[in-house]
Amino acid sequence: MLDLTYVRGQFPAFSEPSLQGWAFFENAGGSYACQPVIDRLTRFYQQRKVQPYAPYPASEAGGAEMDEARTRLSALMNIAPDELSFGPSTTQNTYVLAQAVRQAMQPGEAIIVTNQDHEANSGPWRRLADHGIEVREWKIDPQTGHLDPAALENLLDESVRLVCFPHCSNVVGEINPVAEITALAHAAGAWVCVDGVSYAPHGLPDLDVLGCDIYLFSAYKTYGPHQGIMAIRRALAELLPNQGHSFNGDTLYKKFTPAGPDHAQIAACAGMVDYIEGLAAHQGVSPREVAGLMHAHEVALMQPLLDYLDAKNSVRLLGPAQAENRAPTIAVALQRPAEEVARGLAQHGIMAGGGDFYAVRPLSGMGVDLDKGVLRLSFVHYTAPDEVEKLLKALDAVL
Ligand SMILES: Cc1ncc(COP(=O)(O)O)c(C=O)c1O
Repeated sequence: MLDLTYVRGQFPAFSEPSLQGWAFFENAGGSYACQPVIDRLTRFYQQRKVQPYAPYPASEAGGAEMDEARTRLSALMNIAPDELSFGPSTTQNTYVLAQAVRQAMQPGEAIIVTNQDHEANSGPWRRLADHGIEVREWKIDPQTGHLDPAALENLLDESVRLVCFPHCSNVVGEINPVAEITALAHAAGAWVCVDGVSYAPHGLPDLDVLGCDIYLFSAYKTYGPHQGIMAIRRALAELLPNQGHSFNGDTLYKKFTPAGPDHAQIAACAGMVDYIEGLAAHQGVSPREVAGLMHAHEVALMQPLLDYLDAKNSVRLLGPAQAENRAPTIAVALQRPAEEVARGLAQHGIMAGGGDFYAVRPLSGMGVDLDKGVLRLSFVHYTAPDEVEKLLKALDAVL
């Protein structure tokens, strides 16, 4: 069982005086940062804020910490260190990748996108239609928001080069069977790009198990600094054209990041691994088993909230009502503007948001009134049972 006291002790936000009395339910927007990340970021700014990789101690230490972040994160995800790169955000990373993929495709070839994705893993790919690429949409069920792999099979043929879909949508919450979907796409000869932004905070995946060619997530939603992280498997990374400086094209982790990297934030990403490894050691499990502990805790907290929302006539719960195959990113449509309700919850010490969360396509696909948007209640493994109770009481007062 997850030791919640230990977990919360790793997040300074829980002892921050100005946050006392507030229960945080907008974690899918951005999580609290863990102590090792804050420590590493502070140390970098205080002791190593120089150009890295030069032959003097402060610079060498800064460069080594940047390498350490890449090496340890990639090990956790079971990929080679040069298969992992950092970029400013997942949205910017997909833009760059979309340019690379476009250059590797011929007009008339096709890609598949979903209407379950956040715009970051949808819009940049859809724009390839302007360059003669056929864009096919794998549509969600309008009632449940579910993406049916059987429907993907009907869209796949020999002209499809890429399939893009989310590991978990930021409004539907259902965990998609990535390995199964990837196997279907690969069998048809297509690459696979997975948006893992909404899933990664609940456990970093083993990419050998998932099998996908690209896996993207955002460190700032995964207890880290504001960075986007891209895992691109070697076979695809080598095949795609260089998007960085011409002389960096042979270095896979530089090939898809045209921007100069944010040294301090990359270095601080090693703190995410410090946290996961520290938690694993404390619990007596392997770092990859931490996800299971997180999930069990989240499921136990989530089910009463799902039951409550599902039973309320005035709200429409989006996504599954059962916690087991879900992330605790729970969106509900209401009969009034969701932001108004979020403001009401704030009166009761609840931090939550209302709106479209850039999930305009899935919300439209499920017939949600975009002017009202959805109230999103999202939490992670550091959330405590009494915070969920506080949320339930607050919902009773405002709904
Ligand atoms: C599922 C999902 N994908 C992608 C993004 C975009 O990430 P970033 O803010 O790093 O561009 C978000 C951000 O909310 C998201 O929730």
